[in-house]
Amino acid sequence: MTFAGNPSSNRYEFGANWASFIDRHYSPERRRMAAQKLLSFLGRQSLEGIHFLDIGSGSGLHSLAALDAKADRIHSFDFDPLSVSTTGKLRHLAGDPPNWNVERGDVLDIDYLNKLGTWNLVYSWGVLHHTGAMWQAIENAARTVAPGGLFFIALYSSNVVRPSAQFWLDVKRRYNAANPHQRRWLEYWYIWRFGLGRNPLRLLSLVKQIYEKKKGRGMSYMTDIRDWLGGWPMEFADDQAVIDFLNRRFDFELVRISTGEACTEFLFRNPIKSTSKPN
Ligand SMILES: C[S@@+](CC[C@H](N)C(=O)[O-])C[C@H]1O[C@@H](n2cnc3c(N)ncnc32)[C@H](O)[C@@H]1O
Repeated sequence: MTFAGNPSSNRYEFGANWASFIDRHYSPERRRMAAQKLLSFLGRQSLEGIHFLDIGSGSGLHSLAALDAKADRIHSFDFDPLSVSTTGKLRHLAGDPPNWNVERGDVLDIDYLNKLGTWNLVYSWGVLHHTGAMWQAIENAARTVAPGGLFFIALYSSNVVRPSAQFWLDVKRRYNAANPHQRRWLEYWYIWRFGLGRNPLRLLSLVKQIYEKKKGRGMSYMTDIRDWLGGWPMEFADDQAVIDFLNRRFDFELVRISTGEACTEFLFRNPIKSTSKPN
């Protein structure tokens, strides 16, 4: 199932949310956790020998994680100028390494992607479903994976969305149309209804959830809530449809999958000598 919002209306200001995340929550601990999580999903000790392309880098924390994991070369791009400057800020914090390039780019711009060439690890976490043309974005991103390379993506799963995709579409419409004060109230509503399940006795489990969020990818609970409530345009993908699409179109093999959260994480390998097949 695919469920799309109208891409032309009210694009969410992802970059502002990422800028505030780094200003308020950046810490060496989050940086370490992001690198740990990246390596553990990849099943590797380091990224030595890896050329890492980060599509939709957001805060830049995961590009920084790739640097910490010793990737040879990193290229981060994002559509939102504030995501680009925030990623640039983390690059600066890391000492402006010459093997890490940060710039503005659009995964839907095939000419731009052609210029980037191919990479042996392409990472795009929580991005391709926010482009307004998810399947095209998946296809474009997949084209940047070198033969033998890995493709690590995370997409909102239609298999787990509750209460329904339509419900969240309505919430997102309201959130994006709201002023800052109204947005704050929608965030409180979200915490009450979904964080606490309308039960104040679940406070301890909410605190645990907040800690787990940090432990997972180094993210922050409130930043993720804003990203979830605001994130627009937005589509959901059926897990199996993603696997079938990449297999049919590019012969990509699924190496690993993690399901059960809002975003399903997929790790694919592009077999050596694969060529894309016609539709
Ligand atoms: C939910 S954030 C994820 C950020 C980061 N990958 C992470 O895991 O924290 C989605 C990011 O995708 C970016 N984005 C949306 N459409 C894009 C496009 N067409 N090309 C490149 N980046 C895009 C947004 O600006 C935003 O920074």
